[in-house]
Amino acid sequence: MAIAETQPQPTSASRSQHDKLPAYAATLTAYHRAFAHELRELFDRLPVRPGDRVLDLACGDGVYSRWLAEHVGPQGKVLAVDLSPAFLDLARREVEEGGVADRVTFAQGDLRHLPIPDDGFDLVWCAQSLYSLPDPVEALRRMERAARPGGVVAVFENDELHHVLMPWPVEVELALRDAELKALSELSKKPQKFYVGRHLRTVFRAAGLTSCRHKTWTIDRQAPLGPDDRAYFAGYLADLRDKATPHLAGSPEIRDEFLRLVAPDSPGYLLDNADFTVTCLNHLAWSTAENRG
Ligand SMILES: C[S@@+](CC[C@H](N)C(=O)[O-])C[C@H]1O[C@@H](n2cnc3c(N)ncnc32)[C@H](O)[C@@H]1O
Repeated sequence: MAIAETQPQPTSASRSQHDKLPAYAATLTAYHRAFAHELRELFDRLPVRPGDRVLDLACGDGVYSRWLAEHVGPQGKVLAVDLSPAFLDLARREVEEGGVADRVTFAQGDLRHLPIPDDGFDLVWCAQSLYSLPDPVEALRRMERAARPGGVVAVFENDELHHVLMPWPVEVELALRDAELKALSELSKKPQKFYVGRHLRTVFRAAGLTSCRHKTWTIDRQAPLGPDDRAYFAGYLADLRDKATPHLAGSPEIRDEFLRLVAPDSPGYLLDNADFTVTCLNHLAWSTAENRG
């Protein structure tokens, strides 16, 4: 998930809760808004049915909890858990706005210590959180324990190197991805976690989930962009600019070309190009919880 530092817009009543949200929360919201149509279709691909019990692990702003609650219908149940009270505050409002609050319960805490019932869920879902959770294999093990035998464990994740494919000049893109890795190495002692999308089957296997299936979830957009798409991609480019620019200092020509492409007031701004296309790649991996130990 690309991370932007911009524009959460709290009301004054909710300001203190919003202030505790991480910087990427606004980009996450923009992402859900822009790609809601394609993201909702994830649940048509998975074996989740009306009446099912679902665990949404690291639920964040609750958008998936809401969609899952709609998908499982009035007889279904969703337990949404997250470490962050501020995200849970957003999630509660999300399911209330969706009219599905009666199907969703919330629990706050670290997934490693929460008393989540074992064997309780038909689907255990975790979206775009393996970057954030302490250890992906441990998270998958916890997910598997929460699933009933024969239930499904599913992860939706991306890989920073090929998450958002824009029509960069090739030499700019090569330098950019290198600069991005350097920036991520400053952010985290384990920068490889940002590239976990390509390793999901390995992570599942290490957690004992050997029947992992994988599908690349592709989202395409082209000019002219709608306002929600534009908001997300503008945030993505602003974040990329902040991360990559300091690490392009050794290649001033490439840096200047990059800055020309990402500056909203530049005539070369990528999002204003009449021929602009973009592809977003995400990874959906799922497995039956069959290896009970
Ligand atoms: C990038 S957000 C993704 C949220 C949501 N699943 C989505 O796709 O929009 C990562 C989430 O992981 C939560 N998180 C981080 N560490 C956690 C932990 N140890 N236990 C539970 N949740 C955690 C964060 O609070 C945040 O909501």
